[in-house]
Amino acid sequence: METILITGGMGFIGSHTCVELMEAGYSPIIVDDLSNSSIKVLDGIEAITKKRVPFYQLDVADFEALAQVFAQHTIDAVIHFAGFKAVGESKEKPLHYYCNNLNSTMSLLKCMDRFGVGRLVFSSSATVYDSMHHVLLTEETERWCTNPYGWTKFMSEQIISDHVATRPDASAVLLRYFNPVGAHESGLIGEAPNGVPQNLMPFVTQVAVGMRDKLSVFGGDYDTPDGSGVRDYIHVTDLARGHVAALAYAKEHPGCQAVNLGTGRGVSVLELVTTFERVNGVAIPYEITARRPGDAPMYYAETRRAEELLHWRAERSLEDMCRSAYHWQRKSMGLWEDPNERTR
Ligand code: UD1
Repeated sequence: METILITGGMGFIGSHTCVELMEAGYSPIIVDDLSNSSIKVLDGIEAITKKRVPFYQLDVADFEALAQVFAQHTIDAVIHFAGFKAVGESKEKPLHYYCNNLNSTMSLLKCMDRFGVGRLVFSSSATVYDSMHHVLLTEETERWCTNPYGWTKFMSEQIISDHVATRPDASAVLLRYFNPVGAHESGLIGEAPNGVPQNLMPFVTQVAVGMRDKLSVFGGDYDTPDGSGVRDYIHVTDLARGHVAALAYAKEHPGCQAVNLGTGRGVSVLELVTTFERVNGVAIPYEITARRPGDAPMYYAETRRAEELLHWRAERSLEDMCRSAYHWQRKSMGLWEDPNERTR
C-alpha cells in the first residue's frame, strides 16, 4: 500500500482526493495549516471512509516542520494542493500570494529531494491559459495570467518542471483544473468558502437556502449562445479521481507532463442556474449585472490528453454537480434532507 502525502488535504479538492485515494487502496497523510479550512473536515473524511487519516497542522513553507513528517513516514508520492486561491485577494496582496504559494512549492521540492521522494502531482489551474483569446484550451495553448494567483500557478509549474528535468527518475503531473464544483455524494464534505462566495456554484447554493437574496449574473451580452459566460464545470469527485489516475501515470513515466482536467463541455451561467432549479426544485432569483472585470467570455477543456495518458474522463453530469452541491449546502447547515421541502 503506497503512502501519499497530501498538502492542503483539508481543502475542497484535497479532501475529496483523500477520500478517492483511500477508496483506491492508497494510504494518505494530510498536512495543512488550516488557514482556509477546518479540522472538522477530518471527521467528514472519517465518516465516509471509516478510517482516521494521519494529520499534521503545519505550513508547507516551513521546511523543518515538513521535514519532520517526511522523517516519520515512508512517503511514496506527494499531491500538492496547499496554497492561497482567491483571485481578487491576490490582486490586493500580491506579495502574500507569491511568498506563500511559491515558498510552499520550493520547500516541498527540497524536502522531497532530501528524502528521495521523486513523484509529484501538482494542483494547477486552467487559469494559466490565455483564455481571453482562446476558447478550446489544449495543453499547448498559449499561457498568460491576469492576476497574481494565476501567476503563482504558472511559476510553480515552471519551478517543478525545471527541477524534475534535473532528476532522471523524478516525475510530475501538472493538473490544470477547469471549474471544480459539487460535493461528495454523502454530503459530508464539500466546499466551504469564507464570507461572500466569489465563485458561481457556492453563491448559487447560498441563494438556494435563503442565505442570499439573489444571484448577480456577471454579464448578459457576451458573444455566447445565451449571452452569459461559459465555463467547463467539473464534478469534484471526477476531479479527485483524476489525481488517483495521475499518481499511477507518474509512477510509470518519468518527466513532467501537464494535463487538463475538465469535461470538454461548455456550460453557461444561465444553463447552470436553470439546471440547478430543475434538479433541486428550488428557485434561484437572479439579475443580469455588469461583466466582472478580468472574466473571459467562454472557455472549456480539450480532454484528449487526460483520456490517452491517464485513462481518465469525467463521468458525472451537470445535474449531478447541482444536486450534490445543494445536498452539501443543506446538510452542512443541518437542514431537512428533502430538497422539495423548500420551494421559493
Ligand atoms: C475563477 C478564477 C480562476 C479559479 C477558479 C476556481 C477568475 C478570473 N478566475 O474562475 O482563476 O481557478 O475561479 O474555481 O476569478 N459568475 C456570476 N456570478 C457570480 C459568480 C460568477 O455570474 O456571482 C460567473 C462568472 O462571470 C463566470 C462563471 O460564473 O462566467 C464562473 O465564475 P467563477 O465560479 O468565479 O469561476 P471563474 O471566474 O471561471
